Amino acid sequence: MSEVERGAISALLKEDRKYAPPQEFIKQANWDDPQIYKRALEDPEGFWAEMAAAIDWYKKWDKVLEWNLPFAKWFVGAELNVCHNCVDRHLQTWRKNKAAIIWEGEPGDQRVLTYMDLFREVNRCAVALKRLGVQKGDRVALYLGMVPELAIAMLACARIGAPHTVVFGGFSPESLRGRILDSQAKVLITADGAWRRGSIVPLKENSDQALSGTPSIEHVLVVNRTTAREKVPMKDGRDLWWDCEMEKSGAAVLEPERLDSEHPLYILYTSGTTGKPKGLLHTTGGYLVGIHATAHYIFDLKDRDTYWSTADIGWVTGHSYVVYGPLSNGATSLMYEGSPDYPDKDRFWAIIEKYRVNILYTAPTAIRTFMRWGLDYPQRRDLSSLRLMGTVGEPINPEAWVWYRENIGGNRIPVVDTWWQTETGMVLITPLPGLTVLKPGSATFPFPSIEADIVDDNGNSVPWGRGGYLVIKRPWPAMARTIWGDPERWRQQYWSRYPGMYFTGDGAKRDEEGYFWLLGRVDDVVNVAGHRIGTMEVESALVSHPAVAESAVIGINHDIKGQAIAAFVTLRSDYSAGEELMEELRGHVSKKIGAIARPERIFFTAELPKTRSAKIMRRLLRDIAEGRVLGDTTTLADPAVLHSIKQQYEDSEG
Ligand code: PRX
Repeated sequence: MSEVERGAISALLKEDRKYAPPQEFIKQANWDDPQIYKRALEDPEGFWAEMAAAIDWYKKWDKVLEWNLPFAKWFVGAELNVCHNCVDRHLQTWRKNKAAIIWEGEPGDQRVLTYMDLFREVNRCAVALKRLGVQKGDRVALYLGMVPELAIAMLACARIGAPHTVVFGGFSPESLRGRILDSQAKVLITADGAWRRGSIVPLKENSDQALSGTPSIEHVLVVNRTTAREKVPMKDGRDLWWDCEMEKSGAAVLEPERLDSEHPLYILYTSGTTGKPKGLLHTTGGYLVGIHATAHYIFDLKDRDTYWSTADIGWVTGHSYVVYGPLSNGATSLMYEGSPDYPDKDRFWAIIEKYRVNILYTAPTAIRTFMRWGLDYPQRRDLSSLRLMGTVGEPINPEAWVWYRENIGGNRIPVVDTWWQTETGMVLITPLPGLTVLKPGSATFPFPSIEADIVDDNGNSVPWGRGGYLVIKRPWPAMARTIWGDPERWRQQYWSRYPGMYFTGDGAKRDEEGYFWLLGRVDDVVNVAGHRIGTMEVESALVSHPAVAESAVIGINHDIKGQAIAAFVTLRSDYSAGEELMEELRGHVSKKIGAIARPERIFFTAELPKTRSAKIMRRLLRDIAEGRVLGDTTTLADPAVLHSIKQQYEDSEG
């Protein structure tokens, strides 16, 4: 660990502000018994069996867990349906006419779907998918903005047992194509466009590009959201309008499939340490139990709450805590289509005021952006309905945490910093808001039953107070089961570094009181504004440009986004460095992957630092970028290269 990192950690650990849960919160909290931690660790399977009682099962399990490292099966032999649990079962209660989804479009339009409405829409969609030939087990790709149709389509897939793969609407056609090819999806559901900051993201156009060379796709369902219908080119025999197909389904009702507990629910792609995103597979029973319980206890969900997670459904947070977790709990989940600064920088606060939002879940990057915009915007609005707030996606610095608590939370409500990953499916390290004394910047403790530890290079636990690698030592119900089509990579990537332990790829530290402090990725993954981007993906995008001979990509610190992407690039001999080429390369990466991967900085250098076996030493580039003393350079083929890059970098910094 570098000097700078050590410095940052000791600064963090000096953070001695503490916030006990307010009495009024404790009185009504879904969990107020501290014994839960001990009890759950002593008997994790018993604990999860207890949690499973909140779910409707067609058939109960024979065994809670079957663990064949690294492959888990939870609630073995049980049968259930996630859509039934998120929709149908609420119709038997007073919740039938309760708002399930409150949706606000970016232009200001609004839709409220009660559980009854959701039931109708989901059935119509499920019937339409069946009509298009989608069978249990077939994959369906979803490439949409934040519109209710996305949640409806996910639930319809779950209803018929067709695993969905949601592709974030900000991804490029090429990224969409890669995911369709890997998942072999049969149907794509998209829209003509999505509203973003007053402009239209051309989803259908992107889809058309993506679909050249994807023979598995038989039909495309197109939601009409942004464009005059006649302006949207539709391919005969392949493309169909969503609303016409829904109408064709009429009032038909399709019974939910009885699915095995391990039936695939969805595949979600995320960046890793190679150039190819991996499709994490989540299944049915364990996933639902895990996210139901975490949503209930961490967000303290109550029937009277309006709950808003600002995450896009294209990421795992949207899957677990916009759609499945809240709906399974019968909660009211708010969805907002657009950007936080449209038409003005108070849009989030206007939404909270308008719908009297009680629980808000957002990302540290957003909070840091709001800090920069200034207090005028939140102060314009009444935020007094809030009673709990959360953060997710990246480490939150104590200043941002305290700002959020004071200025959005009115200095009176708990803030839960929740750590988890696409792979973990559910939150694993988090406060319980009625129990935990909070420290700004710390995700505090593992959720009951989760055995997290911090280890050194050899896999030995490090004493409290020292940094290391975050591992999880026991399976948990919502964990991914494998990487779609590549079980060996699942083993190799997560379970081989330390035998018997799940390697998270994150650095962490525990303080003297056992609080966990997350320190960011320790592998070749950069976390930009809470979104994971593999350095190799960006490198391969760069070298696909004719001007680029070689490139090395690293994460650099960024005040707002946490991290940003910096690329060191060597050019082919007939190209010369310059502003124009730099812009072109940035645009090229955006086009290849999506705007989130656009490099913040590009440095043209004559050579890259390499070992004698020609491996690029990104670690040394990070030292340069962060102004550290250069680490060990003895393995370099030519140490002089590094010094000239350092000089160049410092010159360009001015
Ligand atoms: O580095 C950690 C960071 O986000 C990574 C997981 O990214 P993704 O799979 O896209 O899921 C994001 C939303 C669950 C982790 O490896 N991360 C996530 N939450 C936190 C965090 N880092 C610090 N604190 C958090 N609360």
